[in-house]
Amino acid sequence: MDNLINVADFEQAAAEKLDAGVRGYFAGGAGDEVTLGENVAAWRRWRLRPRMLAGHAQWRTATEVLGAEVSMPILVAPVAYQRLVDEEGEIGMAQATAEAGTVMCLSTLATTRPSEVAAAVPEGRRWFQLYCFKDEMVTRALMDEAIDSGFEALVVTVDAPRGGKRERDLRTGFRIPEGLGVPSVEAALGSERAVTIEETFGLMEPALSWTHLEELASDTALPILVKGVLTAEDAALAVEHGAAGIVVSNHGGRQLDCVQATADVLSEAVDAVEGRGAVLVDGGIRRGTDVAIALALGADAVLVGRPVLWGLAAGGAEGARRVLELLRGELELALSLCGCASPAELTRAHVIRAPAPVYSA
Ligand code: FNR
Ligand code: LAC
Repeated sequence: MDNLINVADFEQAAAEKLDAGVRGYFAGGAGDEVTLGENVAAWRRWRLRPRMLAGHAQWRTATEVLGAEVSMPILVAPVAYQRLVDEEGEIGMAQATAEAGTVMCLSTLATTRPSEVAAAVPEGRRWFQLYCFKDEMVTRALMDEAIDSGFEALVVTVDAPRGGKRERDLRTGFRIPEGLGVPSVEAALGSERAVTIEETFGLMEPALSWTHLEELASDTALPILVKGVLTAEDAALAVEHGAAGIVVSNHGGRQLDCVQATADVLSEAVDAVEGRGAVLVDGGIRRGTDVAIALALGADAVLVGRPVLWGLAAGGAEGARRVLELLRGELELALSLCGCASPAELTRAHVIRAPAPVYSA
């Protein structure tokens, strides 16, 4: 792994290890994958405006998110079925995240239960990504397990009442292997057997509304982040209905194709929240400079999904840890070369739109 020096190298190494079906599931997006590609491209339509002679000899990547310190404003996004890419799965990801000193967001669709991840890596910091179920008792049981296991926040994903049209999976015929169930949901249902992803989606609340969110927020002392916000309107509604913040996200381009890249939504979301909550963003973050641009546009932190997954696939927990460390190194370098001693010092004065490309016939 020593020859893997950036996220793209890890992507390549992961691609060589995984079979076509699994590779397509993790790498793919919805429809023509317009948004999947745009997510990466859109960060590169910004340019940095670094300041010189700032007089700093030390740079800290540590920052606060939801009132608690993390070693860097780079968190691990919820990604389902991590044992598909490496047997260490979510526990390996939790170890990597703990060693990097940041927060892991565990998916409802994880292959290891919240209580087991917490028991295996008690020193780790964790948030639980919650899907809401028609049967409120199931949702409640999921929340209770996360709360009892020391999870510090709930991330309610609102952009997946149904799965997107993932054409790579249709072409490879990929299916989540039978037997690889959803243990958190099985425990919440009291089911003796593995439940499939289709069954799980079938049990979810298709008609989720702002009223649900408000009820959820008033039912728990944990802060709630709404994940999947793509407009200023919904950003404002989220904080007005009890959310502690939002995650600007299009689910990594896997749900509705042809929505905006998250880099293009971030500014309007930040403006709409008006400091009333935390604003996080994910989608297409592949470089420390992408993180710096997100922070300059007003994000409190970013999450990475596929990059850490590629790390896990390429080298288990150690691979995921290396991806987090290389991103931290790149961010620290970007901060220092921008003349900033800490993430909070990046402001909109540090970014400008790149010139539009000039096409010649
Ligand atoms: C995801 N994502 C996701 N989100 C979520 O809220 N619950 C989930 O179970 C999953 N599962 C999932 C599986 C796979 C294979 C991927 C790639 C993504 C979305 C994820 O949290 C995040 O929004 C994106 O991955 C961010 O984009 P990047 O960093 O992958 O470009
Ligand atoms: C996905 C679902 C499980 O993106 O969130 O595959």
